[in-house]
Amino acid sequence: MSQARTLTFSIFRYDPQEPGDKPKMVTYSLTEAPGMTVFIALNQLRETQDPSLQFDFVCRAGICGSCAMVINGFPTLACRTLTANYPDGHIKLMPLPGFDLIGDLSVNTGKFMRELSERLSLWLHPNSADNDIHRIEAPMSPEEATKLYELERCVECGVCVSACATKQMRDTFVGAVGMMKIARFELDSRDTRTADDFYHVIGNQDGVFGCMTLLGCQDTCPKDLPHMQQIAYLRRKMASV
Ligand code: SF4
Ligand code: FES
Repeated sequence: MSQARTLTFSIFRYDPQEPGDKPKMVTYSLTEAPGMTVFIALNQLRETQDPSLQFDFVCRAGICGSCAMVINGFPTLACRTLTANYPDGHIKLMPLPGFDLIGDLSVNTGKFMRELSERLSLWLHPNSADNDIHRIEAPMSPEEATKLYELERCVECGVCVSACATKQMRDTFVGAVGMMKIARFELDSRDTRTADDFYHVIGNQDGVFGCMTLLGCQDTCPKDLPHMQQIAYLRRKMASV
């Protein structure tokens, strides 16, 4: 039987709430187990070596988007990343850039997503007649439902924000997640906003015309969402206003 490997984790540590604390990398060793993910490894490190280690998780199944971090330079979900992917057994973990740091590997993506939602009005704007709860629901075509479902798969993990060089250079850029969500409402026949309304929100350098097509979002999105296709769709819509 082959002997289990020893993994080496180099982890960013910094607690902004702790007066005098300074950012540093701390090294930990751990015996690899079959099927181990980076998320499982972090739990074991916290349970057996350092209870102060901060990182986020909820679902452990790639659904909640909480465990996103930079793993060996690549932003992705810790619960969907096998330690076996790293043949030399060295794994470096950093928090996602572009978000407020809570501590160590934990960042405040929730605050970012809420501010984005308020800035872009990311909720359905239906006809006032649709607010009548006694009205019979109107069916949606399966084709439209499929298109909306595709974009609803976003788990708001923040990976595309961290992977976008434009966003890192220009903080006011709405990023792929913002444009994907606008595309979702633009496609929804129940939403009364027109292309002209959306143009006033994202028809500028902070929106569709600021994207430099560097593809960081599409290359890293753990849900394989079609960012480039949707941004091109919105650009065509905005250009026709
Ligand atoms: S679009 Fe993809 S990478 Fe961006 S927040 Fe949604 S799931 Fe995460
Ligand atoms: S813990 Fe929910 S996506 Fe990883």
